Amino acid sequence: MKKYGVAVLGFLILGFLGMQFSAFTHEFDNPPISNEPEWPDAYTAGLARRACYDCHSNETHWPWYAYTWPMGSTIEYDVETGREVLNFSEWPSDCCSDKLVEQMAIVVNNGEMPLPYYEALHPEAQLTFAERGRLTNGLLKMMTQSGDALDKEDQE
Ligand code: HEC
Repeated sequence: MKKYGVAVLGFLILGFLGMQFSAFTHEFDNPPISNEPEWPDAYTAGLARRACYDCHSNETHWPWYAYTWPMGSTIEYDVETGREVLNFSEWPSDCCSDKLVEQMAIVVNNGEMPLPYYEALHPEAQLTFAERGRLTNGLLKMMTQSGDALDKEDQE
């Protein structure tokens, strides 16, 4: 019985090391930038870059712990889903639905983004109350700049 326990433990340790090895050698991708949004001002762009770009752009800074398991797969999953929802590096040229910009303003204003675990690991990405206000404001400006799609949608 004891031998059996040792074998299981050995197996688990080997599995763990195997996972570490594959995480360590994993290559993360930052695809090329095809189009970026027209930010209303450099300040808004800077805030977005600071707080959102790691998960919503192709300019992700992959931290060292992304090369460990299981952190790496969690981070990669978040970046992949983040990029799918909105990607500042592959911004649609017919500028995005205003709904999306509005959604951004809402999540920023409500403090739902950046994701809390990310903020804990990246104090520099945290937005102060005032910065949240200014990023929201900048995003709303983008919304008006990109046309009146929202009004049209509302009228339909
Ligand atoms: C740690 C990675 C990460 C960071 C940093 C981050 N996001 Fe996200 N974001 C995600 C993921 C993952 C999703 C999709 C799953 C979800 O909605 O939680 C998402 C979803 C969203 C959505 C869609 C929400 C919805 O309700 O459908 C918006 C809008 C958004 N993010 C905006 C932002 C903005 C703006 C910032 C910067 C202030 C930001 N995010 C920072 C990972 C991130």
